[in-house]
Amino acid sequence: MCAVEMDTYEKVERALAAPLLEGSDECVGDLDAPTRDFERRELQRVRQWADDNDKRGVKEPGRGLFMLDPAVTFLAHGSYGAVSACVYNIGVEWRLLMERQPVRFFYDTLYPYIVRSLRSLAAHFGLSRASNLALVPNVEFGVQSVLRSLRLAADDLVVSWSDILYGANMHMLRVLQHEQGFQLALFPIAAHVPLTRNGPDEQDAFVEYVVAEIHNAVRTSAASQFKRVVCFFEHVSSPSAIVFPLAKLCRAFREHDVISVVDGAHALGMFAWRDTPLDAMHVDFYVTNAHKWLCNLRGAAVLYVASEEMLRQVRPLVISWGFPRGFQSSFIWTGTLDYTPFITLWAALRVFDLLGGVKNLGARNKAPRAICMTFCSRALQLKCLHSSFWTEASS
Ligand SMILES: Cc1ncc(COP(=O)(O)O)c(C=O)c1O
Repeated sequence: MCAVEMDTYEKVERALAAPLLEGSDECVGDLDAPTRDFERRELQRVRQWADDNDKRGVKEPGRGLFMLDPAVTFLAHGSYGAVSACVYNIGVEWRLLMERQPVRFFYDTLYPYIVRSLRSLAAHFGLSRASNLALVPNVEFGVQSVLRSLRLAADDLVVSWSDILYGANMHMLRVLQHEQGFQLALFPIAAHVPLTRNGPDEQDAFVEYVVAEIHNAVRTSAASQFKRVVCFFEHVSSPSAIVFPLAKLCRAFREHDVISVVDGAHALGMFAWRDTPLDAMHVDFYVTNAHKWLCNLRGAAVLYVASEEMLRQVRPLVISWGFPRGFQSSFIWTGTLDYTPFITLWAALRVFDLLGGVKNLGARNKAPRAICMTFCSRALQLKCLHSSFWTEASS
């Protein structure tokens, strides 16, 4: 691959910096990304399916929209997701298009459609523009891009939970600590998660506990003072799907000069972000996957960087032609990839909205979820988490 025209990077950065018009994700400037016929056709099928169901009053789960084995009752979207047939078919068409003229595709065709996905994501997250978002292949790529870009060293402290953390994240923290020499303080939180009640008071108590533990880690460390303190945590935990109070935690961290780096692997497609915009969460860095609850093709995740200063500092794990022509340019081009999941993200968001978004899908999933929870808790003789653990991004 050779560098695309300089001009292309500039156009991409400009189009992503342009404000969204009343939440619309329409492309701007010279980066026109007309909807392809095959996209229109596939989306129309979903629209038809949703209308027919409405007319018939059908409330059944959308099995017809997936390619799942009919013998399987699939509950594990939080693992590797399950791509919807519509998005899968659109992806097949994009790959065919790519193979018809690969050079033109990578040189030219691709970029407006990446911009289209990013602007749609910005609208989904309630943001006024897409300039703080970048696409990455998965959450771990995004998180590690951030942590490496911070160039942590011996006079920095990283804190996280010791008990409820995705295994690969724990592994990553230990390897980075070994390589970079920062101090790592892990403390348990399980006993402080309000399992059976989850109101504002319980959340405040949880936040207070976390802040106290961070102060404790600073106080008891051999270093009398740290240059930076970073808290890395998961918005939704992998085991037990606990939703941590993102906004409250991050607001408290800002007050105490703690940088927040959040793995939100499960959160896209789980919360009504337009009602609780990402930039109102006080979070410094946030990464979320599109293949889990949004049912996109695997290979696309979103990185959000809050501050202008950090937008200039954060760089992808792989440096390639797009660097250093701007935040998005450096993330868009990290070497030759199959960009189809970045492109189909737009369609995955459309399908999600056509099916009524979180409000409708969440309501529809409530009854089967309650049945499963009761079944599992009886079989394993365990308590159920309080139901408000699945509702708000900010809770
Ligand atoms: C909390 C959490 N973080 C990260 C991941 C991994 O995401 P990825 O494989 O896309 O990097 C998962 C996967 O289930 C997860 O549950």
